[in-house]
Amino acid sequence: MVTLEDRFSAILDRAEKTHSLSREDIATLLRAEGEQSQALFQKADDVRKRHLGNGVHLRAIIEFSNNCIKNCLYCGLRRDNRKLTRYRMTVDEIFSAAFNASREGFKTIVLQAGEDPYYKPEVIADLVRRMKSCSDVAVTLSLGDLTKDAYQKMRLAGADRYLLKFETSEPLLFGRLRPGTNLTGRLKQLSLLKELGYQVGSGNITGLPGQSLESVAEDILLLRELEVEMAGIGPFIPHQQTPLRNSLPGDLYLNLKVLAVTRLLLPLTHLPATTATAAVHPSGRRLALKAGANVVMPDLTPLPYRSYYDIYPGRAGIQVSNSYSWWNEELEQIERSIAGGYGHGAIHTSPDQQF
Ligand code: 5AD
Ligand code: SF4
Repeated sequence: MVTLEDRFSAILDRAEKTHSLSREDIATLLRAEGEQSQALFQKADDVRKRHLGNGVHLRAIIEFSNNCIKNCLYCGLRRDNRKLTRYRMTVDEIFSAAFNASREGFKTIVLQAGEDPYYKPEVIADLVRRMKSCSDVAVTLSLGDLTKDAYQKMRLAGADRYLLKFETSEPLLFGRLRPGTNLTGRLKQLSLLKELGYQVGSGNITGLPGQSLESVAEDILLLRELEVEMAGIGPFIPHQQTPLRNSLPGDLYLNLKVLAVTRLLLPLTHLPATTATAAVHPSGRRLALKAGANVVMPDLTPLPYRSYYDIYPGRAGIQVSNSYSWWNEELEQIERSIAGGYGHGAIHTSPDQQF
């Protein structure tokens, strides 16, 4: 007789060997509890170690503007949040923050902001050029929806990667949560970015209101279909100044299982232990690093701006330092180390370009 335990182990083994599963099998893994969930985390940790080693890539993130023209229902930076103190860093401030981070040792600088048309693509392109000429770093941009021309200018200036999350693969939910936009448009942007030669990162939120387990399983399949070089996966955290203030928060445990299954299906993709996992639990990042994650993105936004980048609550209370040397010690404690090199995508780049 085939027991449920046998079936679960068979799915795990198949995932490890073929890196491919049906939506139903993914949902079964996501329902794992107790010993089964531990087996899932262990398998994801093994796959991470086998394919990517013990190195953890650190990406310094600089959140340079919290202005946004969009009105996403889940996000504290949404246009209609009048209670937020808005800021814009000057180009020189951004450059200095990036330069300092590179001097500390960070090999990737992520420039992130809400969708803020104040910064013209030419200005960002010049900034990227200046950063690349003064520091030995890879540059990732996370600036939302822009035109092809804008993406191209920044790419030509030397930007290596672009992060654009699809958040949910369910078209109706996407349209409801991100007014005025649709999933098809987002997917077009992602393929455009790929065409322009960016290493593309995407990702999703787990535990959104109205999201089923099958829908989350579909998110994982979409990440696989897109062959993303990086995938940020974080739990939904309700924000008081948004229409979703009374919705239930996402569950860290489910988020860790989503991360683990993603690792099994995308063995080479960079998976960060996201800030959202740290915001919901003091050990969130450590747990994520034990469930398939291989990237951490310390926040190098200068104070006091950092506290105003209020996407969701809990970010200010994160009990970790953002310095390179702190992370060196922290990773040693969990038998990991800071990875050398830029940490370029491992899927579409040849092995000699990865490090
Ligand atoms: N909870 C969790 N993640 C959120 N994000 C925005 N708002 C929330 C929230 N309330 C994430 C989205 C977005 C990134 C900037 O932050 O994934 O892409
Ligand atoms: Fe703006 Fe991004 Fe927040 Fe949406 S999720 S409101 S696009 S910062």
